[in-house]
Amino acid sequence: MSVQTVDFTAPGEVTVGDHTFVYAVPPPSSNQFGTPPVFKSRVLIEQLDELLREVEPRRIVEFGIFRGGSISLSAAIAQPEKLVAFDLSDNELPVLRAHLEQAGLADVVRPFLGVDQGDQVVVEILNREFGTEPLDLVIDDASHIFGPTRRTLEMVFPLLREGGMYVIEDWAAEHTLLATVLRSIVDRSTEWKAHAEAIAGNLDGIDDELAGLMRGPNPSETDVQRAARRVGAVNVDRPLSRLALELVHLSAETADIVRSVEITQGWIKITRGAGVIDGTAWFERGSIDLFESLRS
Ligand SMILES: C[S@@+](CC[C@H](N)C(=O)[O-])C[C@H]1O[C@@H](n2cnc3c(N)ncnc32)[C@H](O)[C@@H]1O
Repeated sequence: MSVQTVDFTAPGEVTVGDHTFVYAVPPPSSNQFGTPPVFKSRVLIEQLDELLREVEPRRIVEFGIFRGGSISLSAAIAQPEKLVAFDLSDNELPVLRAHLEQAGLADVVRPFLGVDQGDQVVVEILNREFGTEPLDLVIDDASHIFGPTRRTLEMVFPLLREGGMYVIEDWAAEHTLLATVLRSIVDRSTEWKAHAEAIAGNLDGIDDELAGLMRGPNPSETDVQRAARRVGAVNVDRPLSRLALELVHLSAETADIVRSVEITQGWIKITRGAGVIDGTAWFERGSIDLFESLRS
């Protein structure tokens, strides 16, 4: 099947074929269309649409399901053979399940709940789901934290075909959060409630008590700092932007493996080269400490 057309039919609404999705950052919890909400801005949805048209992926993997909006949207646009997705939260997703049934996608879209993106079980599941077939596209919109994001990349990037794409979303979130969002919550400026809700959304299923405090009327500065640390927003030693730098180094040293790295405000987009990858140590060659060790 060919890639389906995307229409932005109304503010905050996007239609693909027979299905209309509601999107926002963060999105409302329910809507009249019976589809799972998409936790993305219009710009990111346009970028996703462009990517799906470029790659025409048959086999997709996504990390970070939330309510199931982005995996349903990707499947509606790309019409893949299979899309396997993972989320740390094990909260059941009845709206997603009902939508997949109704759209005839229950066998195509396979959500795995209660799975940490950096866990070795991810590779076991992918081997079971795809056999020896290589992946065309991987989208990581899960933790946005350096450690798990890097581990997932080390494990899953080798499973891509030559020319396949690996996207890490929201790599600049820590910078944005630190610069604007955290300050707005502490100062109670105009958008603070929406920002606090967004942070609470990232804590759901991870730290429900803290998520509750962030949704409360008056989170204290300490609550905000704890929440920010918990979602990796204040990982000052290893922000996710460091991974972008490591990938740039890696593309310089091993262009046969990392063919290109494209960085936009929302994405790190990595294209797989034809080189053979043996194990997970391949990534160490991109360590940003290389020049440090030469100097010493
Ligand atoms: C921004 S939301 C995903 C939004 C979704 N892709 C969309 O566009 O609708 C991030 C999700 O990642 C999940 N998550 C956070 N840390 C994770 C981890 N270590 N492993 C897997 N999922 C994780 C959260 O539970 C949350 O549902």
